[in-house]
Amino acid sequence: MPVLSTISHEKNELSHFRVDYLTLNVRSFNNSSIDSSAKGRLFNSTTIDSSSMAVDDISNSPNEKFLLILGKPGGGKGTISKKILKDFPDTEHISTGDILRQHVRNKTELGKEAKAYMDRGDLVPDEVMISLVLEDSMTAIKSGKHILLDGFPRTIEQAVALDENIDVEVVVDLNIPTDTIVERIADRWIHPASGRVYNYSYNPPLHHGKDDESGEDLVQRDDDKPETVRKRLDAYDKVTSPLIQYYEKKGVLKTFSGTMSDKIYPEVEKWLKDMGLN
Ligand code: AP5
Ligand code: MG
Repeated sequence: MPVLSTISHEKNELSHFRVDYLTLNVRSFNNSSIDSSAKGRLFNSTTIDSSSMAVDDISNSPNEKFLLILGKPGGGKGTISKKILKDFPDTEHISTGDILRQHVRNKTELGKEAKAYMDRGDLVPDEVMISLVLEDSMTAIKSGKHILLDGFPRTIEQAVALDENIDVEVVVDLNIPTDTIVERIADRWIHPASGRVYNYSYNPPLHHGKDDESGEDLVQRDDDKPETVRKRLDAYDKVTSPLIQYYEKKGVLKTFSGTMSDKIYPEVEKWLKDMGLN
């Protein structure tokens, strides 16, 4: 059974990493052992020696669901996720954007390199994202909760890697008009440490410019500049939107259209209950 064990550093070997990675079985992991510094180095060169790691079976119970939330940048994935967590508290939220922004704030090697991609509105390379997400998903699966993945997959390659390892059972697809998104993003403020999101017209903070829980300053995201937002929307149309069909064919996706998260959410909640989430 292939497992992830050590990371060695040889130039231009990301493709080896990918091939090994796609054969991993998340449910067989005993130990998710890529440390942050090693992950940072994945940008440059990585192979994985899959020969020497001990394995335990950590199969998911049939009651725990693995969910994805898909949608355009600024389409309300974080906002709807927060509502899902409130109503289905036995759920763990994994947001790839939040994880990357935390690396950027902590100035890890991964964060330094990811920042360049993010600030340009480009996607971070698949190899890095697959490693990051599967590691966090493995840890989350062990917690015995439902998992709600936000921001991954964003390419067919990421979707295939996920499929090789995890049964995705429910995909919420948010379909929000682009004009609405551009307006909202201009008004978005976040609390960097927690990822909490505010919007002065929709969900304003209790005190102007301050996070409700910590009282710390709110900031605007570096990638929320109008030209970067356009590039992110473009990347979504070209690279990510084919995933809608990919999951539709598997019969696990439902699209929710509209402009108001508060109107969309009750429909999402009902569907999640119909799909057996509790
Ligand atoms: P990520 O952080 O995932 O950004 P995104 O997908 O572009 O989505 P956002 O977080 O911007 O928006 P959202 O859909 O969560 O909307 P929100 O709820 O905040 O990724 C950032 C970057 O990281 C990427 O560009 C890429 O470089 C990299 N990355 C991440 N994952 C990757 C991957 N898998 N592969 C490669 N690269 C990856 O809502 C938006 C605003 O609208 C908020 O202000 C909110 O308050 C407001 N709002 C919500 N609902 C309403 C409403 N009903 N009325 C008014 N305002 C509303
Ligand atoms: Mg988000």
